[in-house]
Amino acid sequence: MSKITAFGTYVPEKIIDNHYFEDIIDTNDEWIMSRTGIKTRRFAKDGEYTSDLSVKAAENLVANSGKDLSDVDFIIVCTTSPDQPMPNAASRVQYKLGIENTGCNDIYAACAGFVYGLQVAHGFVNSGIYRKVLVIGAETLSKIMDFEDRTSCILFGDGAGAALIEPSDEEHFQAFNSGTNGDFGHDLYLSHKKNSINGVGINPNSRIIQNGRSVFKWAVGNIPNKIRELVAKAGLTLDDIDFIVPHSANLRIIEAIARDLGYPMEQIPESVSEYGNTSSASIPLAIAKAERNGKIKKGDTLLLIGFGGGLTFAGTILKW
Ligand code: COA
Repeated sequence: MSKITAFGTYVPEKIIDNHYFEDIIDTNDEWIMSRTGIKTRRFAKDGEYTSDLSVKAAENLVANSGKDLSDVDFIIVCTTSPDQPMPNAASRVQYKLGIENTGCNDIYAACAGFVYGLQVAHGFVNSGIYRKVLVIGAETLSKIMDFEDRTSCILFGDGAGAALIEPSDEEHFQAFNSGTNGDFGHDLYLSHKKNSINGVGINPNSRIIQNGRSVFKWAVGNIPNKIRELVAKAGLTLDDIDFIVPHSANLRIIEAIARDLGYPMEQIPESVSEYGNTSSASIPLAIAKAERNGKIKKGDTLLLIGFGGGLTFAGTILKW
C-alpha cells in the first residue's frame, strides 16, 4: 500500500500583476479579474527552467520533512513545458539533485499531469516495482505563451510542487479515475510543424493556443460528474470529502463546479488567484496555500482532479 510521505512547492520570485499586460496587449485589470479571478502570477527568470523549479520544490519537500532523496528509485516530472523535448525533465532533475540510481520519465498530460503522476506512482509502489517515487508537477508556461494573444497570455503562470510516494501499512489512496475527449484536441494545444489536429487547421507557432470558451464549457459540463463518479467509486458521499482540489484554471470554472455539486467554495482550495493557471503545478500549489492558511490538515480526505489539454482529466481521492 502507499501514501504521500512528504510534500513541497516552489514559485519563482518575479510577481506579475494584471497591469503588466496593459502595456503589451489591449486588456485591463478589471477584465482579467472579472473573467478569471486572477490577480497575480509568477514568471521564471531568463535561464530558469522547469527542472530548476522542480529541484526547488524537491528541496522544499526535504526542508519540510527531513526526508533523504538520495535513494529515490523513480522520478516522474509532470509538465507541458519541459526545458527541452529531450532529455526529459526528470533526467535533468536526477542530475541536479545528484540522485545516483533512479528511473526517470515525464508525464505529458497538461493540467491533469500531477494527478496522473500520483496514479502512476501509486501503481509503482503498490506493485512493488519501486519503493520511493518522487512526483513533481512543474511548469514554466511563461516561456511558451503567446504574448500577442490576449485571450490566453493573461491566464498562465510558473510554479512547481513535489510529492514523495512510499510504502505504507495503510492505503491512503482510495479511488482513481481518468478519461479523455481527444476530439477536443484542437481546442487547447501547443504545436510546431503540424498544421491540423482532427482535420481542424491549427497554428504551428510553438505557443499555447486555446479556444477558451470551448474549454470552459467542457470543464463545467463534465468535471462535476467525474467528481461524483469518483466519490461513488470510493464508496463515499460528497459529505465525506473534506476538500475538493480541482485544477486551478480559472476561478469562474471552480465556482461553476461548486454550484453544480452544491459543495461549499470554502472547501475548494485554489491557487489561480495568486499564481494564475500553473497547469501541472496548480493542485500542489493550492494544497500548500490551504495548509499555510490552516485549512487542510494531516488526515483530511482530499479529492484531487486535474483537467486540461487533451482534453483529458485525472482524479484521485486520498488521505492527506
Ligand atoms: N482583455 C480584454 N478583452 C478580452 C481579452 C482580454 N485579455 N481576451 C478576450 N477579450 C475579449 C474578446 O476579444 C471578446 O471581445 P468581442 O466580444 O468584442 O469579440 C470578449 O472579450 C469576450 O471574449 P470571450 O473569449 O468570449 O471571453 P470569455 O468570457 O470566454 O473569457 C476566457 C475568456 C479565456 C477567460 C475564458 O473563456 C476561459 O477562462 N476559458 C477557459 C480557459 C482555461 O481555463 N484554459 C485552461 C484549461 S486547463
